[in-house]
Amino acid sequence: MQQEEFDSLLKETRRFEPSEEFRNQANFRDPTVYDRARQDPEGYWAEQARHLDWVTPFTKVLEWDPPHARWFSDGQLNAAYNAVDRHRLGPRKNKAAILWEGEPGDSKVYTYEMLGREVDRAAHMLTRLGVRRGDRVTIYLPMIPELPIAMLACAKIGAIHSVVFGGFSSQSLKDRIMDAESKILITADGGWRRGRVVPLKANADEAVKGTPVETVLVVKRVGEASGAALTPDRDKDWAEEMAKSPTTPFPAETMGAEDILYLLYTSGTTGKPKGIVHSTGGYLVGANTSMRSVFDLKDEDIFFCTADVGWVTGHTYVVYGPLSAGATVVMYEGAPDYPDRDRFWAIVEKYGVTIFYTAPTSIRTFMKWGPEYPKRRNLSSLRLLGTVGEPINPEAWMWYHEHIGAGRCPIVDTWWQTETGCAVIAPLPGLTATKPGSATLPLPGFEADVVDEDGNPVEPGRGGYLVLKRPWPSMLRTIWGDDERFRNTYFGKFDGIYLSGDGAHKDEDGYVWVLGRMDDVINVSGHRIGTMEAESALVDHPAVAEAAVIGRAHEIKGQAITAFVTLKEGVESDPALVDELKQHVVEKIGALARPEEIVFAPELPKTRSGKIMRRLLRDVAEGRVLGDTTTLADPGVMEDLKARYAEKE
Ligand code: WTA
Repeated sequence: MQQEEFDSLLKETRRFEPSEEFRNQANFRDPTVYDRARQDPEGYWAEQARHLDWVTPFTKVLEWDPPHARWFSDGQLNAAYNAVDRHRLGPRKNKAAILWEGEPGDSKVYTYEMLGREVDRAAHMLTRLGVRRGDRVTIYLPMIPELPIAMLACAKIGAIHSVVFGGFSSQSLKDRIMDAESKILITADGGWRRGRVVPLKANADEAVKGTPVETVLVVKRVGEASGAALTPDRDKDWAEEMAKSPTTPFPAETMGAEDILYLLYTSGTTGKPKGIVHSTGGYLVGANTSMRSVFDLKDEDIFFCTADVGWVTGHTYVVYGPLSAGATVVMYEGAPDYPDRDRFWAIVEKYGVTIFYTAPTSIRTFMKWGPEYPKRRNLSSLRLLGTVGEPINPEAWMWYHEHIGAGRCPIVDTWWQTETGCAVIAPLPGLTATKPGSATLPLPGFEADVVDEDGNPVEPGRGGYLVLKRPWPSMLRTIWGDDERFRNTYFGKFDGIYLSGDGAHKDEDGYVWVLGRMDDVINVSGHRIGTMEAESALVDHPAVAEAAVIGRAHEIKGQAITAFVTLKEGVESDPALVDELKQHVVEKIGALARPEEIVFAPELPKTRSGKIMRRLLRDVAEGRVLGDTTTLADPGVMEDLKARYAEKE
């Protein structure tokens, strides 16, 4: 975030108190909860953990051997049992668990009982296909019901799922399969996006070459339109395999609380994505608690989180959080503007959505489209709104408040990360006054702070490192196969304190204002991309000698990728090459990493020791007066770059 934005945030003084009406019905309405949790965080978490069903109740709460935490470690449970089966036994048996809406307009409803039968059958199927407890199962699916069913079937068996977002390229999928050493991949013949087929199967075929994958299980979603064929012996049709599997209940594997539930890869500051490891017990406690606290979930609610399940937001707030709390979730397959720009609002109206959760980048897009789209639909069922994924600018917050929430719905701006597993800084909507642009206060049981280089808390209004000073149940346990990297990345700077990688400041009321990443991670439309990842993809192209990638402020996406590229001797820079390089990045990583612009630069700004000064490149891309250039080996480079940026493609 830049100085001007930072200053305008410091001036933001609007404040919205919870309405009396909301407060009176809120799950968390006793203001002493913050103090109680501060005085006895373990007691607080133990109390929350009792909202789950344990096969063996835990007697230990926390064992903390920094940077490794173990939560509820002698407890035993099964995540799928908690998310599905326990609801089949009581009054929620025939309650809708998933209201699924396909992009073309088809839809399906799964009650808890129906979902449970599918999960059981899928668990039998995976077992028949050789999947055992502890095995990694890579899942590369569109937003169709088979995605949560596959995840829950893994959880039921005790297998570890690794979901890869369907927008990732075959290369990204391959890297993740290799790292996780999966022997099985679950994919689909395709998915629908803006009326077109996403070629998942073609990507999967490419990805599995040379990997340990022996079985590819294929869900038929688009049928004829995909053109995908099954490879004999290796590929199996999901529906056929399901049909061959028993319909009897599948006994849930009894898991230790610390057993791994899943891996989810996320970008870091090196080129190699990190397999974030989440536990079974602690993760589920975090996901479940935040449904009741932040989202004030009631049995009557219809919960719609627009995130793809391929990201952590979808893991926690489409699958494990809402289902473990017995909610009805809406799951939508496609684009927000298909067939028209009111699709989300049509869904809200159709299903009577009461809680709606989306990303600031979407809200800014809705703003650009104009209020006539939400106005077309009846949104009066809504009672709570949420945002996640990036800082929300106060203007977007106010628009959301007014045009979607009708000035009536509290907004919960939830700060968290793949690594944290669940929301960490967010309002309790019945208790916490909100301020547009601030994620407000750490939730009960979390100790977030903003500190300086030495780890001391900063004065109000001063920027610093956003850290978590105490372990929490749903924290990542390690990085898959690389505990050293886990230790260095998150606990290397301050002893025993978790470094989030974000910058923030606190105001006089202790409210946290998240400013964005402080490391070499770019947040494009709420998706994390490592600068090194994008740079490696560019340098991989035969025409490129060197590349420097930065995130620059972008009106809709929050940040956009600008790439400065030095071509090899003798290569001509022309517009066709710009397109080719952008496409190359898409093929290497996925469409989410497509550079917004590419600037050809005969030289990049480097220090005398050869380090590229990305800070100066950001100044150029954001049209600012250049920062300190005295450490540059050749300060003259900058004038040339400015001129080139102005003429960029
Ligand atoms: C950013 C998504 C400001 C932040 C759940 C974090 C936010 C990264 C917010 C994690 C928010 C997420 N306000 N910034 N409410 N929520 N972020 O792992 O930079 O995909 O580090 O997890 O998104 O992204 P991730």
